[in-house]
Amino acid sequence: MSAEKFDVSSKAFKIDPFPTFRRMREAGAVVRVKLPFIGRTWMPTTYEWVDRVLRDHKTFVQDPRNAGKRSYAGVRWWMPRMLRVLLKNMLAKDEPDHRRLRGLVEKAFVRASVEEMRQPVVDLVESQLDLLEREADGGVVDVTRHFARPLPLAVICEMLGLPAEDRSRFAAWAEPLSNVESLFGFWRAFRGMFKVNDYLKGTIEECRRNPRPGLLSALVEVEQDGESLDDEELLSMAFLLLFAGHETTVHLLDGAIVTLLEHPEQLDRLRGDWSKVDLAVDEVLRYFSPIQVTKPRYASRDVEIDGVTIPRGDFLMPLLASANCDPAAFDDPETFDVFRTPNPHVSFGRGIHVCLGMKLAKTEVEIALALLFTRFPNLSLAKPRADLDWMQRPGTRGVRSLPVRLS
Ligand code: HEM
Repeated sequence: MSAEKFDVSSKAFKIDPFPTFRRMREAGAVVRVKLPFIGRTWMPTTYEWVDRVLRDHKTFVQDPRNAGKRSYAGVRWWMPRMLRVLLKNMLAKDEPDHRRLRGLVEKAFVRASVEEMRQPVVDLVESQLDLLEREADGGVVDVTRHFARPLPLAVICEMLGLPAEDRSRFAAWAEPLSNVESLFGFWRAFRGMFKVNDYLKGTIEECRRNPRPGLLSALVEVEQDGESLDDEELLSMAFLLLFAGHETTVHLLDGAIVTLLEHPEQLDRLRGDWSKVDLAVDEVLRYFSPIQVTKPRYASRDVEIDGVTIPRGDFLMPLLASANCDPAAFDDPETFDVFRTPNPHVSFGRGIHVCLGMKLAKTEVEIALALLFTRFPNLSLAKPRADLDWMQRPGTRGVRSLPVRLS
């Protein structure tokens, strides 16, 4: 294996990650990378190995205690109890605990179905577009701040059944969490997490007393084989849904706007047939890959990948974004083809932890793009991609702001 260093958090990488992914795959199906905050990790780089690692949940586990380690992933003795509870969510669990929690939340999801969310999402997009238009100064407006960021928060709050009037408070608490790019940012985010925690706790108690429409009440009431969620599980589930469902979708929506505006001929094809917008969103998920890696998996035994031995207890972070541009899986992978079919991208993960909210996220972004580009047919980037304010957080590809011209 090559000892080459790979930089996956610089601005240059965020602007154009393809050359780095090419070099990584050439170096091996798994490479060793040093990440800020996280330290040294193994990264599977090819489509084949990203898929295999994510599907083999017995060899590659979420809970490090199942790989011979002493503590839960990311959970430390000095952390406040609230944080320890939140970190022990379903995404951090192995079977059978994960299956039990996922079964319960899937049942609740069916009750608060995505199809029922379609009209509320259209209404939320329309009102957010009115706001975007009002905020424009000389025709220029930050589409992240006034559209791509508030919309997914509004949608997930609506789905959970949280009142609209609580949203701005909520957004203020959640904002520091989206900016965790340094240790200082992490501590600032702590305060917001305490507030969200108290708010959700109170709302869950209210849902117990007076059930209301939405996923939170459905989660309180759900029962399967005599099992239900206890208070701590409920809280960490609500927290997971809120944060997994927010930040990810912001970057997908921004990524879609940048990518479509940079490929006017592809945008024209889409304008010619909005019924295929689902294919366009899949292609942005593949080509832009807003979530570039999954959570770490721990090797539960010594395991060999492409001639490299990963010792038991070491962790791996599968590089979804590199798998998504692997020529072994996609023709002409560095080309954006708005109607690409088939498109078996891995942007929502694979295996037992595959994204629970993918249908919601896709529906929301499909509606948002169709309405945005129809209302503003002359939309254009006010700054080229290279000059945008790219986030440097490893694993996420997104911008802090996205100035556009509405006409
Ligand atoms: C663009 C939007 C989204 C992307 C790219 C995305 C991506 C992902 C990925 C890659 C995973 C797997 C992580 C891993 O295996 O370590 C995941 C899991 C998850 N996602 Fe999403 N997600 C998105 C939107 C959402 C939304 C809207 C929700 C909630 C409504 C959501 C809820 C979840 C949950 C609960 C899990 C954990 C599933 C489990 O452990 O079984 N996601 N997501």
